[in-house]
Amino acid sequence: MAGRREGLVTKNGVGVGGSRIAVAIGIGILCGCAFSFLFPSTFFASSAVITRPNTSIKSRQVSSSPCESPERINMLKSELALMTEKNAELKKHARELSTKLQLAEQGVDQAQKQFLTLGMQHKAGPFGTVKGLRTNPMIISDESVNPTLSKILKKIAIRKELIVALVNSNVLEMLKFWVDNIKRVGVPNYLVVALDDETVRFCKSNDVPVYRRPPDENVDSIGKTGGNHAVSGLKFNILREFLQLGYSILLSDIDIVYLQNPFDHLYRDSDVESMSDGHNNMTAYGYNDVFDEPSMGWARYAHTMRIWVYNSGFFFIRPTLPAIELLDRVAYRLSHEPKSWDQAVFNEELFFPSHPGYEGLHAAKRTMDIYQFMNSKMLFKTVRKDAQLRKLKPVVVHANYHPDKLQRMKAIVEFYVDQKQNALDTFPDGSDW
Ligand SMILES: *[C@@H]1O[C@H](CO)[C@@H](O)[C@H](O)[C@H]1NC(C)=O
Ligand SMILES: *[C@@H]1O[C@H](CO)[C@@H](O)[C@H](O)[C@H]1NC(C)=O
Repeated sequence: MAGRREGLVTKNGVGVGGSRIAVAIGIGILCGCAFSFLFPSTFFASSAVITRPNTSIKSRQVSSSPCESPERINMLKSELALMTEKNAELKKHARELSTKLQLAEQGVDQAQKQFLTLGMQHKAGPFGTVKGLRTNPMIISDESVNPTLSKILKKIAIRKELIVALVNSNVLEMLKFWVDNIKRVGVPNYLVVALDDETVRFCKSNDVPVYRRPPDENVDSIGKTGGNHAVSGLKFNILREFLQLGYSILLSDIDIVYLQNPFDHLYRDSDVESMSDGHNNMTAYGYNDVFDEPSMGWARYAHTMRIWVYNSGFFFIRPTLPAIELLDRVAYRLSHEPKSWDQAVFNEELFFPSHPGYEGLHAAKRTMDIYQFMNSKMLFKTVRKDAQLRKLKPVVVHANYHPDKLQRMKAIVEFYVDQKQNALDTFPDGSDW
C-alpha cells in the first residue's frame, strides 16, 4: 500500500501534486486581483491600449493627459467606479475558484480510489509491486436521512470529519473535563449527542455543540437509565445516520483525555481505524501464539493467531459500505442477543472470516499506534516507568482500564500539560478492586 498511498495521498489525504498546482493558480489569481485593485487605472488603461489600439483618443487619454475637463473627469470617475466594482466581482470569483479547486482536489483523490476499486481488471505487476485495496470508496451522501442533523454537521465538521460522543446526564462531570481538554487542544469539530434533556441544557450552558436525537422509545429508555454498556450499544444505531450523511466519525467515549488534535494523526485508508486494548506491540498488532498439546507428540505445537480487541470506545469510521454494514451487523446482534457485549460483537464482526453458514464482513481495518492513541494500561503499567517513553506525548489517553477514571484523567493532564513529573506516581498499575 505504501507505494500507492504516497502516490495519491499524503498522510492527511490531500493530493500532493494537485495541491501545489492549486496553490500556484490561486496565488496567480489573487496577485492579479490585488494588483488591479491597487492600480486600477494603470491596469485597465494599459490593457485598453493593448487590446483596442485604435479606439477613440478618449481611452488613450485616460493614462496620458494630466489636464481634463470636468465632464471628462466625471466620466472617468464613473468608469473607475465601474472598474472597481468589476474588480470586486473578480476577486469574489477568484475566492470561489480557489475553494472549488480545493474541493476538486479532494474529489480527484476520491475518484481515483473509486476507479481503482471498481475499475477494470489488471495484470499483476512485478514482484513486490502488487497491492490489494484497502481504501473503499465513500458512499453518496443522502441528506434526506436526517436534514436537521445534516444542517448541524455542515456547520461543525471539518473536511466532513468530526468527533462524536454519546452522553447522558449520569456523566456530566466527566463530560466537562472531556470538553475542556478538547477545547484546550483547539479541536472545533466535535459534537455531543445528548441522550436526555439535562445533557442538552448542560451543553448549551457550557458552549458545547450538542445534538438531541428525536425521541425514540427504545433509545430513550436505554439512554436515560442505561449503564455504560447499554449506552454503548446505542451508538451503532445512531452512528449510521452520520455515515449516511457522508461524514467520517471519530467515535469517542468521554473517559478520554485529548492532548493533540487526533485528526492530524489518522491514516484514513481503512473502513475502521481503532484504538487497541493491547498493552504492547505484540498484543496490539497481532502475533503467533503457539498452543502446546504434548499428547500429540510430533505435532504437539499448533500455531494460533491472537490480537487484543479493538476498543469500541474510540474508533474512526469512514462512510463506506463495509463500515455501514459493520454498524448494522453489530446493532442487529446487540438487539437479538441481550447478553452480548458491544465491544466483543464489534470485534467478532470485524475479524471472523467467512465459513460454512456464515458470511464474514470484508472491512478494511487499521490498529492505531498504541503510543499515540494510548490506553491507560499502557500508560500506568509501562510508559510512566520508562524514561524514554515518558517523553512521548500521546494524542489521546483513554482511561478505559481503570475505574477511578476522573482522578487518573486529571493526573494525566497534570503530567502531560502542566509537566508535573510526579503526577502519575501515586496510582497503582491496576485498580485495587
Ligand atoms: C489601427 O490604426 C492604424 C493606423 O491608423 C492602422 O494601420 C491599423 O490597421 C489599425 N488597426 C486596427 C486593428 O484597426
Ligand atoms: C513497537 O513498534 C514500533 C513501531 O513499529 C517500534 O518503533 C518500537 O520499537 C516497537 N517497540 C518494541 C518494544 O518492540
